[in-house]
Amino acid sequence: MKGWLIVNNFVSSEKSRTMWSMFIASAKKCGIELELKRTGELCLPIGEDFGALPDFALFWDKDIHLAARLESKGLRLFNSSRAVELCDNKVLTYMELEKYSVPYPLTFASPKTYPSIGYSNMNFAQKAAERLGYPLVIKEAYGSFGQQVYLVSCREELSAVVRRIGSGEFVMQRFVSGSRGRDVRVNVVGDRTVASIYRYNDNDFRSNISNGGKMQPYEINKQQEEIAVAACKALGLDFGGVDLLFDGEEYTVCEVNSNPHFRSTYDCTGVDVSEYILRYIGESL
Ligand SMILES: Nc1ncnc2c1ncn2[C@@H]1O[C@H](COP(=O)(O)OP(=O)(O)O)[C@@H](O)[C@H]1O
Ligand SMILES: [Mg+2]
Repeated sequence: MKGWLIVNNFVSSEKSRTMWSMFIASAKKCGIELELKRTGELCLPIGEDFGALPDFALFWDKDIHLAARLESKGLRLFNSSRAVELCDNKVLTYMELEKYSVPYPLTFASPKTYPSIGYSNMNFAQKAAERLGYPLVIKEAYGSFGQQVYLVSCREELSAVVRRIGSGEFVMQRFVSGSRGRDVRVNVVGDRTVASIYRYNDNDFRSNISNGGKMQPYEINKQQEEIAVAACKALGLDFGGVDLLFDGEEYTVCEVNSNPHFRSTYDCTGVDVSEYILRYIGESL
């Protein structure tokens, strides 16, 4: 069996390269020949064929247009273009979770504006803040590593953050105070959870490892498992990384990643998620 590992044309961090190598090593173990392809190599005229296609592609990027074009030529992608699209945009993620009754904190989506106008009044944001209370969380629709997530504690900060966002889409969300600086990352492959870590940060409300968070191996309970698997199912993911918040006695979905960085999980738990993913792909084809 042959596959392409499609990766972003511009990313080249050590962490990313390690994950790509882990995928290729795991593929070998599963008897799969996996060839690394940069998206730039697939930059061909729209509509033109991509040449001889492999049996599948492990799509490790967020280039949903390229993904859709490959699918239209009959290539099976893990994850699909639609699943990647739903995870990449946090507004779409919560809308999809809503359809399948997967729990997430109360969330507002920003009204559409235009680059030439921006958020020229704050009436919608102040109204949302009345429902959410302060502090509240603002997340740009597109963002990773906690870098586009803000904790806002008053009306002035709210306006400043929204103005700084410019004209991009964002969500305003209830701050889950019991989860300040801590959450659980659950790695799901197929309909199973394969490894989880508890992430915490004593100096920041965001627990992302790349933002200075620390981690511990973590055994999830039945409820956490059900929510993580249901979230991936709702979004049509073959595999994914689900961030779960500690929301009182319950758990709510913070966000879902379609190409979760599993290197930290490996360092923490010794579980190689890439092996589960390749085995799952082998079994699905
Ligand atoms: N509503 C919330 N309440 C409490 N903490 C949150 C909330 N939303 C996000 N966080 C914290 O911020 C981190 C980053 O948010 P997340 O939505 O996962 O964005 P990113 O895609 O940047 O990782 C989370 O891991 C969590 O620690
Ligand atoms: Mg996250």
